[in-house]
Amino acid sequence: MKSSLLLLSRCLRPCAETRTTVFSSGRLLLLKRQPPCLPGAGGTRCSSSGCSALVFRRHGDPSQVVELESLDLPSVGAKDVRVKMLAAPINPADINMVHGTYAILPELPAVGGNEGVAQVEEVGSQVTSLKPGDWVIPRDAGLGTWRTAAVMTEKSLIPLPRDIPLMSAATLGVNPCTALRMLSDFQALRAGDTVIQNAANSGVGQAVIQIAASRGLTTINVVRDRPEFNQLSDRLKAMGASHVITEEALRQPHMQELFKTYPKPKLALNGVGGKSATELLRHLQHGGTMVTYGGMSKRPVTIPVGALIFKDVKVKGFWVTQWKANHAHDEKAFTGMLDELCALIRQGKLTAPVCNQVELGDYRRALEAAMEPYTSAKQVLVF
Ligand SMILES: NC(=O)c1ccc[n+]([C@@H]2O[C@H](COP(=O)([O-])OP(=O)(O)OC[C@H]3O[C@@H](n4cnc5c(N)ncnc54)[C@H](OP(=O)(O)O)[C@@H]3O)[C@@H](O)[C@H]2O)c1
Repeated sequence: MKSSLLLLSRCLRPCAETRTTVFSSGRLLLLKRQPPCLPGAGGTRCSSSGCSALVFRRHGDPSQVVELESLDLPSVGAKDVRVKMLAAPINPADINMVHGTYAILPELPAVGGNEGVAQVEEVGSQVTSLKPGDWVIPRDAGLGTWRTAAVMTEKSLIPLPRDIPLMSAATLGVNPCTALRMLSDFQALRAGDTVIQNAANSGVGQAVIQIAASRGLTTINVVRDRPEFNQLSDRLKAMGASHVITEEALRQPHMQELFKTYPKPKLALNGVGGKSATELLRHLQHGGTMVTYGGMSKRPVTIPVGALIFKDVKVKGFWVTQWKANHAHDEKAFTGMLDELCALIRQGKLTAPVCNQVELGDYRRALEAAMEPYTSAKQVLVF
């Protein structure tokens, strides 16, 4: 992780005609504030030597502390690649990073964003795995993807096939990978087995529904109640959800009726925490596993003693960033997973989450929308 964060700093190297800031590491960061973008002009500028980027100089509310700035790019070294960003989502982890509450934080000032798809424009003389025109995604978190262009090392990027939709490519490296790992690594699941999850309309949740359906698994999908629940339920069912219920319905005794139709879940996936997680646990079968990957409610997970003693449930956590770090020396682990996901995309079995595509100049609106509840849509910056 340290190397990724260093890389992020490295992408902010010195250039001409700029204001100077000194990193604590001794690196120089030179930025100039960008004049307001003209409506209809695309809102951003990019040249072979510079780019526009969403920079935060202090932690805080993203709509207050993130600014669009011009950044000069370093020259392309022998093992470097210059890329043009094509699209980058705004994920909860990115928001937490700007807030300063995420598990890994870059040195400030920093460019926001951890995920996205870029196109290679220029490669250094010793680059062997990439060529101009290739699509690439970050190998790891911390690269700072909310920017029109960047110079990155060859090693920090992974090529993606160009025959998948842009929004799928932009959102592939985090949520679908998380969903696939959680469905693969914690319980030996067979077709007909049941998985229960909360935050089922999240990016992760939508990927879980689709990957599970492709494996013949039944999914019970819990979402927060809302006026347009029926529309949301229909949308998730069209993706392959077996059953969609509200948090409130999950607490009702009649839920037990459901398990006359489906076997009790072997696996529960928790992206919320608090009471919602406890409810998931309650429905697990003996020996089942609950994997916590997110804490959107900001409430701790409470585990009933009986679930541990009498039902022998396993309570685990998962962090895809750690998985990538653990498999950093096994190239095929990550690329094999991406191949599997791209195959599902080509077969029409895995679509991108619903995305609102937003031009970089409209970044404040996108940041605000990304923090709104009940949107069921991912904000994606397009460049
Ligand atoms: N551990 C990992 O490796 C890993 C990887 C990817 C993502 N994550 C985490 O997974 C979570 C979801 O990420 P994402 O990109 O899929 O999110 P997303 O697409 O932005 O969706 C956010 C989800 O959180 C729900 N939510 C928000 N506030 C909530 C609350 N107070 N109580 C209950 N539900 C709430 C939303 O439901 P409504 O529609 O009802 O608002 C929505 O389902 C985040 O915590 C993220 O950091 C973890």
